[in-house]
Amino acid sequence: MKFFVDTADVNEIRSLVETGFVDGVTTNPTLVAQSGRRFEEVIGEICELVPGPVSAEVTATDTEGMLAEGRHLAKIASNVVIKVPLTVDGLKACRILTGEGTEVNVTLCFSAAQAILCAKAGATFVSPFLGRLDDVGETGMDLVHEIVDIYNNYPDFATQILAASIRSPLHVVEAARLGADIVTLPPKVFWQLYLHPLTEKGIASFLADWEKTGQKILEN
Ligand code: E4P
Repeated sequence: MKFFVDTADVNEIRSLVETGFVDGVTTNPTLVAQSGRRFEEVIGEICELVPGPVSAEVTATDTEGMLAEGRHLAKIASNVVIKVPLTVDGLKACRILTGEGTEVNVTLCFSAAQAILCAKAGATFVSPFLGRLDDVGETGMDLVHEIVDIYNNYPDFATQILAASIRSPLHVVEAARLGADIVTLPPKVFWQLYLHPLTEKGIASFLADWEKTGQKILEN
């Protein structure tokens, strides 16, 4: 399973990269707005920090506009992935950009039917939004399950399942159990993956007992 991080905060990405666990990055217009910076500049810096796929989302809503924006953004770096919304125009743009050799992440996927369309349009990634489904009283993880089952029936479907809108470590674990290819993690959830109270408690008691021995592993 690959870990992408879901943020446009370059400083945050820098410290996440130091863990050695970051395989790629996803951004969206909201995250770019939160960064308060120029879109192209932010994407360029992220692409230098992370050699893996970096998703940059178009904001045009018609195919021609998405193609123009996508081609412009794809020039920033060779690892830019163009993110398009799951609409009729978005999937037309997906097919054309994919044909030009540009990787495409189809975002805002909320149904298995939509995920089938993504695969048929040749998307590199499909992003089912788990948390947002949970927010409206549906079980987001059921969608990942359905997509995994369907894609497994068709070996020619090469689209990777990128579980998005992740809200907790439990989402990560469940997505992994189901076989999602990638999860994209908000930094907060990424850091939560390390945590367990028994780990902290165990360290404290080991150190307290070690102190009693009066020993040091490295004697100066
Ligand atoms: C994915 O690519 C999106 O940027 C993201 O996961 C959206 O998550 P949210 O529902 O927490 O905004």
